[in-house]
Amino acid sequence: MMDDTLTAAARAARLRAYAPYSEFQVGAAIETADGTIFTGCNVENLSFGLTICAERVAISTAVAAGHRSFRKLVVCADSNVPVTPCGACRQVMAEFCDELEVCSINLAGIEHLTNLSVLLPRAKAGILG
Ligand code: THU
Repeated sequence: MMDDTLTAAARAARLRAYAPYSEFQVGAAIETADGTIFTGCNVENLSFGLTICAERVAISTAVAAGHRSFRKLVVCADSNVPVTPCGACRQVMAEFCDELEVCSINLAGIEHLTNLSVLLPRAKAGILG
């Protein structure tokens, strides 16, 4: 079972989603190495490609506040099966994390726990190496 504070933060962040096009609200909360929590929600745009996922908003908010080291991320959506982060979010996670616990929960409390190396194996292999 994932940390209650982080889970509650992700659930609360979901309520701030700006999702008029998909009507699919997502919240995320990330815990830094020093235990600080930052949140994000999906922010959609009329130009659909400019939509930013909750996970990337949470990570960017944390980075803007001076944090670059992370332990866990929780993502929350109202889906039957807990959502899985998109490829772009996985790559952004990999920019800052060699390893990251990723927990996805739905409103019914079903959770799926995984980690970044499963979601995006060999994220940096061969690049600038
Ligand atoms: N979305 C997220 O914010 N995170 C995910 O892990 C899955 C998808 C958002 C993007 C878009 O605003 C909406 O959910 C539908 O895909």
